[in-house]
Amino acid sequence: MRRSVKQSAPKQPDFMLIRGSLTFAGDKSISHRALMLAALTDGECVVRNPARGQDLEATRRCLAACGVKSAWEGNSIRIIGDTLINPTSDLDCGNSGTTARLLLGFLAGQKITACFTGDESLSRRPMDRVIEPLTRMGAKIESAQGHLPLTLHSRQLTGITNQSPVASAQVKSAILLAGLGAGGTTTVIEKLSTRDHTEKMLITLGAEIEFTESQATVKKLTGNLQTFEMIVPGDPSTAAFFAVAAAGLPDSELIIRQVSLNHRRIGLYSVLERMGASVVYRQTDLILGEPVGDIKIKSRPLQGVTLIAKDIPGMIDELPALAVLATQAQGVTEIRGARELRVKESDRIAALCENLKRLGAQVKEYADGLTITGPTRLKGESVRSFGDHRIAMAFKIAGLFSAGTVSIDDSACIKISAPEFDDLLSRVLKIST
Ligand code: S3P
Repeated sequence: MRRSVKQSAPKQPDFMLIRGSLTFAGDKSISHRALMLAALTDGECVVRNPARGQDLEATRRCLAACGVKSAWEGNSIRIIGDTLINPTSDLDCGNSGTTARLLLGFLAGQKITACFTGDESLSRRPMDRVIEPLTRMGAKIESAQGHLPLTLHSRQLTGITNQSPVASAQVKSAILLAGLGAGGTTTVIEKLSTRDHTEKMLITLGAEIEFTESQATVKKLTGNLQTFEMIVPGDPSTAAFFAVAAAGLPDSELIIRQVSLNHRRIGLYSVLERMGASVVYRQTDLILGEPVGDIKIKSRPLQGVTLIAKDIPGMIDELPALAVLATQAQGVTEIRGARELRVKESDRIAALCENLKRLGAQVKEYADGLTITGPTRLKGESVRSFGDHRIAMAFKIAGLFSAGTVSIDDSACIKISAPEFDDLLSRVLKIST
């Protein structure tokens, strides 16, 4: 039962609100995996509605350097599975942690020799979390003290059992993908469950894999994966920015259509419900093992919420959006057990605290999270994106909760995951005076 809320978020002078329905470009995590797995088939695959943005292009570019041919055809990527070759140029992963970590495991399993590079932000992010288990599998990897640039040398791998100290789908997926080429079986055990797109896709495409909520075991591939055509469901992480706007702006109602309803990805939406928003799901499809459907969000007075470590993996990328929304909720929102936020595209805890304080929010920083006390009518101020696409998008939404203009020093980084962001927002943002 919903608790009663005495004080609601302050109304904006111009009554900005969200109304309408949106369809999002395909989920980024699923799109990366679809391209990599297509390379292990022996024919043509079609990935419809893939993620737009620079991160997926980084994966496509790196695969192309390894001999995998692909091309955009309208809103699809056609990709031809082939024998992988050693690239003659560096694999530039750009800003994409998923590209770097998953490809490292994937190519290690295929006995490829390659040099991996990335932009400044990616070169600061830890790679030892994948280097260490892959090395135990027999890979030879030379790195700059656990960071990019690194060199992978061709070796035959052997399966291991791994329990990662960090809850990370990227680490799990890197090991499982390496396991496709490793002798014997490869097992990954998780203390906290992370997204399972790799497992779901592998089982659908004919790999020998078994998995539960906390464990996955894959055997070496004996042939090719099955060719496939798929429509990638909309990205719930990009949709999250719009969902929090709809939850927090009074009189709003938004339908997010054809989005992934994978239960390990929609933690944010259950938290919106816990905060008091109305959230209704309608599953319409199952695509390569992924539930897909619509989510309808209606604004209601919101109350603060407490998140602990087990809540974090299911909404890791949505925490910047949630922190912004928390400024509009009555009482304290506590986000803890989220130390991983410090090693994302930016130190997201520091970035959120700095920016939210500049906008006048009541924020307290912890090593593993932050608390926000609301509701606060935010001020118009300048903030920094720290070159981080999700920080930039979160503060575009903060601008909707603000009495003045929130200006962001560099929002071009939004192109990393969602070049369509401004266009989508302009379609559903209404101003009623
Ligand atoms: C991803 C997993 C998450 C997420 C990232 C994409 C994936 O990272 O933050 O944006 O596609 O597996 P971690 O698993 O390292 O937390």
